[in-house]
Amino acid sequence: MPTSLQDPRVATVLDRMYTASKDQMSKLRERGGDFNRPMTTQERTEAMSEFYIPVTPEAGRLLYSLVRATRPATVVEFGMSFGISALHLAAAVRDNGTGRVVTTELSDTKIAAAKKTFTETGLDDVITILEGDALTTLESLDGAIDFVLLDGWKDLYLPVIELLEPRLSTGALVIADNASSADMKPYLDRVRNQDNGYVSFNFLVRESDSMEVSCRT
Ligand SMILES: C[S@@+](CC[C@H](N)C(=O)[O-])C[C@H]1O[C@@H](n2cnc3c(N)ncnc32)[C@H](O)[C@@H]1O
Repeated sequence: MPTSLQDPRVATVLDRMYTASKDQMSKLRERGGDFNRPMTTQERTEAMSEFYIPVTPEAGRLLYSLVRATRPATVVEFGMSFGISALHLAAAVRDNGTGRVVTTELSDTKIAAAKKTFTETGLDDVITILEGDALTTLESLDGAIDFVLLDGWKDLYLPVIELLEPRLSTGALVIADNASSADMKPYLDRVRNQDNGYVSFNFLVRESDSMEVSCRT
């Protein structure tokens, strides 16, 4: 049976977005030095407002599979960008026939573009965008959370998971992208200590980077 990832509307959009993100890579590399200096969340968001910096296609398919396998009622994403990962999550929710994706983004440019894209794919009815700083917008989220993708700025993973933790259901999966980034240490220290209520596992998603998958116990 075809999946929603094979729906021509979704496949065409993902293909277009991955091509655009690949085309940006040289520009991103050229300007890499600009982004390494210390910046506020807002400054970094503005500096990166044209860049996709998405999960890889392999990571997208992994996210789709994990959501299919675990059938979460509520999926929360920290860091939507233009919506590549959100589309993989939403395709899985659609194919499960149950659930919703709540995603977060600070950049107005990205939010406006993603709204159009989500409508174009027909997955907009399972996606809610919380607009603004996730540390504020996620406070208002009701109910239990069964699946989390952390893919915003890395220094915020710890405060975001601290905010969501009281609402994580038992068995919830928390997936953190770019786990090899130096900024991730405080977050990894938390989820790798089983006394904090997680069983955590790291695996490579490309040569130089990894994802941390943590199960809430
Ligand atoms: C690596 S990109 C996300 C890529 C996306 N998950 C994908 O695969 O297409 C990180 C995004 O997080 C957003 N972000 C960073 N800090 C945020 C915050 N405090 N609240 C909401 N969004 C934030 C940035 O604007 C940026 O678009």
